[in-house]
Amino acid sequence: MIFRQLFEQVSSTYTYILADENTREAVFIDPVLDKIPQYLQLLNELSLKLCYALDTHVHADHITALGTLREKTQCVTVHGAGSKASCVSRFVEDGEKILFGSHELQAISTPGHTIESFCYYLPKKERGLLFSGDTILIRGTGRTDFQGGDAGQQYDSIHKKLLSLPASTFVYPGHDYKGMTVSTIEEEKTHNPRLQVKDRQKYIKLMSELNLPDPKMMDVAVPANLGCGIDVSSDMD
Ligand code: FE2
Repeated sequence: MIFRQLFEQVSSTYTYILADENTREAVFIDPVLDKIPQYLQLLNELSLKLCYALDTHVHADHITALGTLREKTQCVTVHGAGSKASCVSRFVEDGEKILFGSHELQAISTPGHTIESFCYYLPKKERGLLFSGDTILIRGTGRTDFQGGDAGQQYDSIHKKLLSLPASTFVYPGHDYKGMTVSTIEEEKTHNPRLQVKDRQKYIKLMSELNLPDPKMMDVAVPANLGCGIDVSSDMD
């Protein structure tokens, strides 16, 4: 399998490419609008055909590339069930599989960071990779104070679903702000301070006391992303 991790510096967003070595069918996870030229070049250089572009959730800190990638490559755009981005071509349910070549990504519904947050899992029989969006970050978890966020739901998503994946599963997050690129379920279980909170009520209290400022681009990014990032005003900057 072909696997790439790309980084967008302004919002510290990770974008992932997965592709089948034989059929060249590719999937993008969390692509960023400003990086479209790089993506198209890479698809061309690696002789890949983009089949799916998916977002783990409606992002508040950057504009998605989903709509533009669909226009340029005819790929299918994907969000999790419950997303209000009506522009998206396919909504996946919990447990549904996204197939590319001989590989499959399993959709896992993980509400909490936002109401429509999903993670995607490449099963252990291949490599055991979890694309955790903003649900589990390396040594952190995504905030739960807007877009239908719910700390109790996030606690359940993490403890009942994600932490039951094999301990050796690699965790690839949606962002990192400190230079970390990958972790494992075992490593996060042991060292992620937010995952040491064993009581749901204590976790809700901890998350309610974070008092974080809104993301700088939130007022622009959320409405733009509900439209898949197309029709973004040219004076956005
Ligand atoms: Fe997010």
